[in-house]
Amino acid sequence: PLVSTGELVTKARAKGRGIAAFNVITLEHAEAIALGAERAGSPAILQISENAVKFHGGRLSAVAAAAAAVARASSVPLSLHLDHVESVELLRAAHPEGFSSVMFDASKLSYADNVKATAEAVRWAHERDIWIEAELGKVGGKEGEPPLDAHAPGVRTDPAEAAAYVRDTGVDALAVAVGSSHAMTERTAVLDHTLIAALRDAVPVPLVLHGSSGVPDEEIRRAVASGMVKINVGTALSTAFTGAVRGYLEAAHPTVVDPRKYLAPAREAMAGTVERFLGVLRA
Ligand code: G3H
Ligand code: ZN
Repeated sequence: PLVSTGELVTKARAKGRGIAAFNVITLEHAEAIALGAERAGSPAILQISENAVKFHGGRLSAVAAAAAAVARASSVPLSLHLDHVESVELLRAAHPEGFSSVMFDASKLSYADNVKATAEAVRWAHERDIWIEAELGKVGGKEGEPPLDAHAPGVRTDPAEAAAYVRDTGVDALAVAVGSSHAMTERTAVLDHTLIAALRDAVPVPLVLHGSSGVPDEEIRRAVASGMVKINVGTALSTAFTGAVRGYLEAAHPTVVDPRKYLAPAREAMAGTVERFLGVLRA
């Protein structure tokens, strides 16, 4: 069934567990997430990023309706989240499309401007019962952005600033920069677990780990143990999808034209990745 993100995050947090959020680009992504979640017997969040909406020509309803339909038909609880929204116009479009949550990303702005823009977004969201996440610090590595040194000063989230930020914006969850980076294709990120615990103690809301594709299993487990709740995974699905398509096309199928021939193994590979991440969060 389609449930709300707030409910999934609250339940996971109460159990001291992590809840995974996977990025949806194509219909096959949504199907694979549902399949992997059903196999794992775990709930999950389907998230559509502003970049994915742009890829589909800005037609938010088309992607959202497909993902929501897949979620409604699933035997495990799934929710729909709009991810990395920088445009206020897109934020406002989330409401009629079945999204129970959004991440408003003003992390590129100065601290003062981030607080101002996010507080406004929070007011808008809460009037509509939408759960809202925001980012303080810079996770970096998003599409179209220069790579960021995750260890550079000013990049990581400061606990005292985080406390003030959550108080002044009223956000429901906080995405923090603790050593991970977006779009990593190798799982070599090293997280600052002392910082995660300090952030958990400093803010009353659940913490969100972005760029989890590059984080090794054991680091994810430790991050959840030290207070991370929502675990965002995107690139690992791209790696699975593209690897399967490449493997199929290179493996002696020079005459194939029906996309279902290679989309089926791509979807299956993504489902396997989803199941594996959910297994890490259950262990
Ligand atoms: O918001 C989405 C996530 O942070 C995904 O990051 O693609 O590096 O796994 P990733
Ligand atoms: Zn992210």
